[in-house]
Amino acid sequence: MDIQDVFQHYVDDMRVVEDLIREHQSSYVHLIPEIADHIIGSGGKRLRPLLLIISSDLCGYRGDRRFPLASVMEFIHTASLLHDDVIDHAVIRRGKSSANSIWGNSASVLVGDYLYSSSFGMLAEDGDQTIQKLLAATTSSMAEGEIIQLAKCGDINATEKEYFSVIEKKTAILISAACAMGAILAKVPEAEIEALARFGMRLGTAFQLTDDTLDYVAREDDFGKTIGMDLKEGKITLPLIRVFKKCEPDEKKIIEKAVENAGEDSIKKVTSLIDKYEGIKYSLEKADMLIEEGKTFLEVFEDSMAKEAFFTISDYVVEREL
Ligand code: IPE
Ligand code: IPE
Ligand code: MG
Ligand code: MG
Repeated sequence: MDIQDVFQHYVDDMRVVEDLIREHQSSYVHLIPEIADHIIGSGGKRLRPLLLIISSDLCGYRGDRRFPLASVMEFIHTASLLHDDVIDHAVIRRGKSSANSIWGNSASVLVGDYLYSSSFGMLAEDGDQTIQKLLAATTSSMAEGEIIQLAKCGDINATEKEYFSVIEKKTAILISAACAMGAILAKVPEAEIEALARFGMRLGTAFQLTDDTLDYVAREDDFGKTIGMDLKEGKITLPLIRVFKKCEPDEKKIIEKAVENAGEDSIKKVTSLIDKYEGIKYSLEKADMLIEEGKTFLEVFEDSMAKEAFFTISDYVVEREL
């Protein structure tokens, strides 16, 4: 099974989710559907709703509640992207001009807020307190992650431990919630919900780790985002943390200068240092380890198509170029 087979297998369910996403982005305030349409219509892998659908399948839940809840996962993700692109001064998102570069920061932030509020409206309609609490804690953590990252911006002495704490909070937690949600819907025993949450944490951490390597080495056309943005923005990610730890004092100076003010020339120098000290390889090996650890949490489930799909997504997350 490859990743296309996974998407193909769940294509009907994902179509229902997609229709609900479109339905709920409407508002009489025309700027809202305009911006929401732009970012949602620009593509995106729909990974988080897909994970929720697979988790429901794995745990035997076939009811309709999974569809609006899956679309909530994409709404929360989209809101976080709108906000993230303002914070990161991103110009490209999903291969198109980012919303902030077209409509400006204020409009992006406000439409992001609107998507968050719509999400919580949809959660209230669903009415499940366990899920409401989970997603309230999840979105708080995502904000905390972004805030810690902001506070740590430009701090080249950031440790691996701090880095992992940030990416767990800002990214992995939502992916973990998506994986746990199907189990909550299916009302399986707590241990199975926990197993899926843990699987999702590893998957989500590996996902952001891979994103942070792609920021250095991807092709912009594949990735759909500007390359080298993290360094330009002073965002200290694992490839750089690793190299800074390993390199010589004069090379440390080059990195410090680049973090302070990253021109094209200093980006090239840092990229070659990352090459020399195998910062990408090191990061991807960590991602691989997390993926393998994540898979072990699936052992409590019987073999099935859904479990196979989770394995396939796990491998895809570290091999992807998008
Ligand atoms: C991008 O997430 C933000 C990160 C957490 C790295 P995705 O790579 O899932 O973005 P889309 O939805 O596919 O565009
Ligand atoms: C993404 O981190 C975090 C969230 C959207 C919550 P990044 O800043 O690395 O994501 P991209 O690279 O802009 O997609
Ligand atoms: Mg960003
Ligand atoms: Mg990134």
